[in-house]
Amino acid sequence: MIIAVVNSKGGVGKSTLAGSLAGWLHAHGHSVILADCDTQQSSSEWLTEAVPTLPVVRLHNADQVLDELPVLAREAEFVIADGPGSQTETSRGLLMWADLAVIPCKASMFEARALDKNTNFVRQAQAIRQGPPHAVAVLSMVGKDYRLTRDMLAAAHALQLSVAGTALTLRQAYADAPGQATFVWQMGYAARDAAAEIDQLFRELLPEAVTAEVIPLRRRREKVANSLNLNT
Ligand SMILES: Nc1ncnc2c1ncn2[C@@H]1O[C@H](COP(=O)(O)OP(=O)(O)O)[C@@H](O)[C@H]1O
Ligand SMILES: [Mg+2]
Repeated sequence: MIIAVVNSKGGVGKSTLAGSLAGWLHAHGHSVILADCDTQQSSSEWLTEAVPTLPVVRLHNADQVLDELPVLAREAEFVIADGPGSQTETSRGLLMWADLAVIPCKASMFEARALDKNTNFVRQAQAIRQGPPHAVAVLSMVGKDYRLTRDMLAAAHALQLSVAGTALTLRQAYADAPGQATFVWQMGYAARDAAAEIDQLFRELLPEAVTAEVIPLRRRREKVANSLNLNT
């Protein structure tokens, strides 16, 4: 499955969401490749340090995206593509192959005209491909008490865009995680709200990805050893 995190606007939380999603799927036992399509390479640098066992590929332009994305998709269950901020052609390339487009948007972008402008390239891809990719907007960097208003939902609905019920709140933990080569769910008590929120979002986006509770490797080995003892 190819999941493209796109929005031609920079600084809306694409790399944060893409890197977290790749790390989260990996933690849930899935094979994942991160395809970093942003020249800033922030998500690939982050994941290389945080999860050295997670393969990272850098795709530098639309041609590479169009040629290599389907090849990568045969090598892993999930390819998570972190879209660029400005190179629209690369984003268009991503949407030619993506099964799911996740579009982080700041609340100000939910103003109807802005939403229309910022998501037009998604509708163009859907028209060319006669359906896919399914597109979900995720509210990003919102205040703690933020709620989706009826106006926002109407704007999204008019563009046939679904909106995730879980939003990503503005929290320091998200900004700190890459610098500490980790993820919010590994940052302990201070980041517990961020961890719960992002887990809820990913379960909402990919309910089928969560099959069982994540058991740390050491405990998994103990469990296997115990069951072997019981059986002999
Ligand atoms: N929910 C959030 N709360 C606080 N800071 C965030 C959040 N999401 C992203 N950031 C920070 O905002 C900046 C831009 O985010 P980033 O994911 O790099 O956006 P993009 O990839 O769209 O340019 C980064 O410094 C990042 O750490
Ligand atoms: Mg980025």
